[in-house]
Amino acid sequence: MQIRTYRKGDLPVLRDLTIATFGGASIDRNIEERFGLLNGTDWQWRKARHIDADVAANPAGVFVMEDEGAIIGFITTRVDPTTKLGWIPNMAVAPGHQGKGIGRKLLAHAIAYFRDQGMTHAKIETLAQNAVGCHLYPSVGFEEVARQVHFVMAL
Ligand SMILES: CC(C)(COP(=O)(O)OP(=O)(O)OC[C@H]1O[C@@H](n2cnc3c(N)ncnc32)[C@H](O)[C@@H]1OP(=O)(O)O)[C@@H](O)C(=O)NCCC(=O)NCCS
Repeated sequence: MQIRTYRKGDLPVLRDLTIATFGGASIDRNIEERFGLLNGTDWQWRKARHIDADVAANPAGVFVMEDEGAIIGFITTRVDPTTKLGWIPNMAVAPGHQGKGIGRKLLAHAIAYFRDQGMTHAKIETLAQNAVGCHLYPSVGFEEVARQVHFVMAL
């Protein structure tokens, strides 16, 4: 098992992993459960689009965990040279490989990358409904600084 930097052809796998894992951890999914499709788009399409944006914004800061040639997890990052605050917008580990420390390894890799890029702080968000995120992120050193509530209304 090894972590490597994103390569061009990885995007479809990252999108598939996202769709396979984010069902219980997605604002888009919550919106769909309450309101249905948004202009014909489902939560999978909208969530996968976030990964497209991460890859477009900072491909050198997207890392994948590979096991015998197969991608079984990934983490995306952004760096801000002005504030020195690194950000982890998305991460996922394939369902059959969760709970084995891979998420923790990907986080450690992203944090090392941030240090290497001169970042002084790192930020990650999770939903209150995401029990794993709420446990994992503080356990690697993240401290809670705010809680946010998302509202949607039909027009
Ligand atoms: C979040 C995610 C990337 C973590 O990856 P992972 O490889 O399973 O993570 P790890 O195995 O390194 O760590 C998981 C930790 O959560 C703990 N955990 C597992 N289920 C839990 C639960 N229901 N409640 C609380 N903690 C839980 C594990 O015990 C482990 O903690 P430990 O090392 O202290 O024992 C993965 O679960 C995932 O892809 N989830 C769906 C997508 C997602 O939520 N992405 C992040 C959005 S913020």
